[in-house]
Amino acid sequence: MTHPFTLIELDRLHKAGEKIAMLTCYDASFAALAEMAGVEMLLVGDSLGMVIQGHTSTLPVTLDETAYHVRAVARGARRAMVVADMPFGTYQAGDASAFANAARLLAAGAHMVKLEGGRVMHATVRFLVDRGIPVCGHIGLTPQSVNQLGGYRVQGRSEDAANALREEAQLLQKAGAALIVLEAIPASLAAIITSELAIPTIGIGAGRECSGQVLVIYDALGIYPGHKARFVRDFMNGSPSIVDALGRYVKDVKAGAFPAAEHSF
Ligand code: KIV
Repeated sequence: MTHPFTLIELDRLHKAGEKIAMLTCYDASFAALAEMAGVEMLLVGDSLGMVIQGHTSTLPVTLDETAYHVRAVARGARRAMVVADMPFGTYQAGDASAFANAARLLAAGAHMVKLEGGRVMHATVRFLVDRGIPVCGHIGLTPQSVNQLGGYRVQGRSEDAANALREEAQLLQKAGAALIVLEAIPASLAAIITSELAIPTIGIGAGRECSGQVLVIYDALGIYPGHKARFVRDFMNGSPSIVDALGRYVKDVKAGAFPAAEHSF
């Protein structure tokens, strides 16, 4: 990658059928290494609340904390697209406050914001997109709703739940979302959703048929001591360096070799 990865480049890759490699990232050094390894998109995820701050959920993460990490990542990344998670409570209360908060993340250096929810959030997505803010949707297991979901559980297993997710994906696409993260849903459902959309899907625990993949970088490098989800692979295992490990992640995503069946539901 020699030039900035923009929405135009994202569309080009997707139309060419090339898988998109995304990783979470929270600081300048990892941003530079991930970019060196060929990662196209860096997500300043609210997973930072768990892997950086040691919380048991993503819920306590604030806008100020996210903006701090976005600034760090944006300094380290020269070409990758920086996507910032909107923390819990910063977009649900109204479109105007969602816009003001998303604008702060763009001012900090993000190129796109990500927010959780489909049916409830699609009007807000439309509001942001119409005002110049690229948006990534996120459906399936939405960790900010952990208290409502009763834990970090696979979503979309029943026919009704699967149909609801297909509909949510369509609503987000119609609202102008540039891409959609599908988290912890059956691989067969993710394949259907992906085939029904014109925009790319990025899977995490959603099988290999998504248009691209994302992992929490601390999981991909085996440095998070907490619970290891089924969809995680430690790419550091057998790698001589971090860049090599991240390069293997990119290579396996591009080749459709990650995730394998054992990482999927
Ligand atoms: O916060 C995060 O890291 C995320 C990814 C798991 C998609 O939302």
